[in-house]
Amino acid sequence: MNTPDNGVRPSDGSVVALVPAAGRGVRLGGSIPKAFVTVGGTPMVRLAVEGLIASGAVDRIIVMVSTELVDSAVALLPPSDSVHVVVGGAERIDSVRAGIAAAPDAAYFLVHDAARALTPPALIARVAAELRTGHRAVIPGLPVTDTIKSVDAAGAVTGTPHRAQLRAIQTPQGFAADLLRSAYAAEGIPATDDAGLVEKLGIEVRTIPGDPLAFKITTPLDLLLANAVLDGASVGRAVTP
Ligand code: CTP
Ligand code: MG
Repeated sequence: MNTPDNGVRPSDGSVVALVPAAGRGVRLGGSIPKAFVTVGGTPMVRLAVEGLIASGAVDRIIVMVSTELVDSAVALLPPSDSVHVVVGGAERIDSVRAGIAAAPDAAYFLVHDAARALTPPALIARVAAELRTGHRAVIPGLPVTDTIKSVDAAGAVTGTPHRAQLRAIQTPQGFAADLLRSAYAAEGIPATDDAGLVEKLGIEVRTIPGDPLAFKITTPLDLLLANAVLDGASVGRAVTP
């Protein structure tokens, strides 16, 4: 069912988390796909799934991995009837599309990168709660600390957006399920996140405050930071050994 407005209506229905984990991790440069690299001794994809479970806000979790890693993923994820593994695709967008197809019954989707392995469960719960109040597209974001400039192909600066108006966007990104399905059906111009596809439909996307711990583990420096966080005492979340 598609509703034409962005009106705020309380709503019920099942929340399905889609966890893209089918990337190779080229920028991390490891010998195994990034989602299977361990942080504090636990594979990132498992940490991400544990965070979703700990949020108490998710009814079902669908993890997308590459074909050859389906069995490994099933073996390392928490054994649960609510956790499923499906085959992802060549690009992240293809992996998310595979997850959407595997959940025709969802009322809401939370799309959450495996690479954001330390995301606090409370942030996940906040995104889901905001969806349940009737907002149809909800994404967490943090103010940026660097000045951001746009540049042309030769590297010449073409503009400096006002920093106060910028947010660095994280996951989970939450959507009314019909909206995300429409966004993926209408997909044309590439977008670097799921909300970008929804924006192209002209639908309002709401931001809520993100969390520094929801950073994406992309480079070796990020992995170092993530391991240091789990080594420290003030992580603020429980991690299953
Ligand atoms: N992802 C996916 N399917 C792809 C590509 C990426 O499911 N074909 C997932 C990754 O596994 C990751 C998330 O999307 O959890 C965010 O992508 P990114 O951080 O770019 O991870 P990778 O694509 O693995 O890393 P890189 O771009 O450095 O290769
Ligand atoms: Mg990538």
